[in-house]
Amino acid sequence: MGNTASPNGNARRSASILSTGMYVPSRVMTNADLEKIVETTDEWILSRTGIRERRIAADGEFTSDMGAKAAQQALELGGIDPQEIDLIVVATCTSDTVFPSTACYIQSKIGAIRAAAFDVQAACSGFLYALVTADQFIASGIYKTVLVVGAEKISSIVNWQDRNTCVLFGDGAGAVILRHREGARGLLACDLGADGSQTSILSVPASGCRLPITPEVLDQRLNFLQMSGKEVFKQAVTAMNRSAEECLEKAGVKPDQIRWFIPHQANFRIVDAVAQRMNVGMEHFVMNLDRYGNTSAACMPIALHETAMAGKLDRGDLILMVSFGGGLTWASTVLEW
Ligand code: ACO
Repeated sequence: MGNTASPNGNARRSASILSTGMYVPSRVMTNADLEKIVETTDEWILSRTGIRERRIAADGEFTSDMGAKAAQQALELGGIDPQEIDLIVVATCTSDTVFPSTACYIQSKIGAIRAAAFDVQAACSGFLYALVTADQFIASGIYKTVLVVGAEKISSIVNWQDRNTCVLFGDGAGAVILRHREGARGLLACDLGADGSQTSILSVPASGCRLPITPEVLDQRLNFLQMSGKEVFKQAVTAMNRSAEECLEKAGVKPDQIRWFIPHQANFRIVDAVAQRMNVGMEHFVMNLDRYGNTSAACMPIALHETAMAGKLDRGDLILMVSFGGGLTWASTVLEW
């Protein structure tokens, strides 16, 4: 991470973010709309989560369509030709197909014909896992220009009969283009982690080889997302807090040196609890879940793009991104803008 010495003594060529992009579907689903689908209220959703509305992809609109649109914006804003892209890493848990990867569909849609392409699956932590993976290819000198996309059509795995979960999620995509920038420190530090003993508290039980689709599986709606909300809440606060602190320590950075904290947009109360534990005011946290809900792996790049486009980032600013998701997985990065 950063321009620290590598094991062979050479300066490490860390990745910097050259440009960002995002895309959200045009269809807005408000809490009032959800009141017509399940037994819930705008007041319950807003007070328990902070979410007012979310975007829902059209029937024929897939994860790769959203990811490609976000990528195209990042290419335009960075002035990059698609053929300059050496590698595409896509974070998603709602891939277009079991295989090929969503990264392959995106490669074709944006015309990045030179690029290698693969997906990373770490649920909501996926984008940061993908970002850190991409950084390794740049630091090692294997690739020069890497596109990282976080894209999800979570509405396709949400059980629209389950009020405990369907109110939380939304669709969308974000993208960043990474390159080494001379004199910039780029990605300074990361902290990635997982606890595979907790797979059952947040999962889609069926549709993999463990439980293939059968009429019984469909009847029991096991092909949709299931979550023990309270347990996930507790684990999220602990893991995000610990991961963020470890990442800051690795970067040698104090919280008051961070301009923006970008947390996973799962629940306002989770972020508030993390902020309190870190003794950082909520005004330093980027929040957009009121408009998009939890877009899983797309949360981070969407929030980053909106912050950049709002003119709230200057060269040299430090950003801490921290996420948490199914697996369980967690991830943090400190990067210099
Ligand atoms: N509308 C109205 N009532 C509801 C709704 C709803 N949409 N959902 C649940 N309730 C009810 C429950 O049935 C329960 O009723 P009961 O007391 O009669 O049984 C009551 O509200 C309270 O439910 P709780 O579970 O206690 O509510 P809580 O305050 O824990 O909030 C929530 C629930 C929002 C899900 C919270 O636990 C949470 O945010 N958990 C974390 C979710 C998360 O972070 N997921 C991220 C990972 S996603 C990924 O990685 C892909």
